[in-house]
Amino acid sequence: MKATIVLLPGDGIGPEVVREARATLETVAERFGHELLFSEHVIGGAAIDLTGTPLPPRTIEACEAADAVLLGAVGGPKWDDPRAKVRPEQGLLGIRRALGLYANVRPVRPYAELATCSPLRAPLLAEVDLVVVRELTGGLYFGQPRLRETKDGVTRAVDTLEYTDAEIRRVARVAFELASRRRRVVTSVDKANVLESSRLWRETVTEVARDFPGVRLEHQLVDSCAMRLITHARSFDVIVTENMFGDILTDEAAVLAGSLGLLPSASLGDGTRGLYEPIHGSAPDLEGKGVANPIGTILSAAMLLRSSLGLPREADALELAVSRAISAGCRTADLDAAHPLSTHEMGQAIRERIQPQ
Ligand code: IPM
Ligand code: MG
Repeated sequence: MKATIVLLPGDGIGPEVVREARATLETVAERFGHELLFSEHVIGGAAIDLTGTPLPPRTIEACEAADAVLLGAVGGPKWDDPRAKVRPEQGLLGIRRALGLYANVRPVRPYAELATCSPLRAPLLAEVDLVVVRELTGGLYFGQPRLRETKDGVTRAVDTLEYTDAEIRRVARVAFELASRRRRVVTSVDKANVLESSRLWRETVTEVARDFPGVRLEHQLVDSCAMRLITHARSFDVIVTENMFGDILTDEAAVLAGSLGLLPSASLGDGTRGLYEPIHGSAPDLEGKGVANPIGTILSAAMLLRSSLGLPREADALELAVSRAISAGCRTADLDAAHPLSTHEMGQAIRERIQPQ
């Protein structure tokens, strides 16, 4: 098949990990006989430096015309002034919203061989296989009003947590559809004992559950969910939750995997076009050193093959290549290695192990 992929390397270690993921996609394309056309565009801090805005119209147009988008990371100390009007993160939030990508799918399946990389005891990690479906274009990240003002010598700041029933319904459906192809349990996470938006969330998810009689729905408050993720992670199948809760819980879930550098994500909407990115940030302290772990981005590329290009065999082959590299002892510096591989060496180790089945 023939497909077009837009690369948005972004900032910090973004370009380094995207380079490896691109090379890996090229290897997959070559071994399986596909034609992938890549184009690269700026986003985030790199785009601010070049054009004055974190999400130039040309970047949006290119993404809209592509079959899929692969993103590295955005942000860095250079653009971190809290008073700045333009911020790299606006680029990321803007492209998610512009492409209508309301469901962020973040799978967590720790590799047994990496159990010692996690500060948690190995028995807590065994058999963990969960997916967080994070709502991505609503909630606190986008609600209005959103302001800061000073009146009578008092400065106040406001963010708004707002959801419509339609926004909740569509992301809940993604979670239920996913669960019906897995172990058939959805845990809906909210703060319904305090927040009105959470009470609407709970009610709406319960309604959606009626269309999926084979899937069991449970509700959990976000604070106790945070604890259960550490104490009983294996008891989760699919978690669905609002934007900010999902942001926080998925960084926590990365502790199960052993490194933030390992986890991929797919941001999906109603069509097949998706945005794929590792869950880690731009890690400015690692930039340019060639030490970043490319696995989160490479596994995001596997999700891209499966969900946007409809190539499940190719996605499986890539995921298998990552597992094989890990089983063979390949480790980047974040994985506590005595003799770590560089970002590029890890990419190579994975590419060598891609076999058409
Ligand atoms: C993530 C990141 C982003 C988010 C930041 C960089 C805006 O933390 O993708 O999890 O909060 O969504
Ligand atoms: Mg985050």
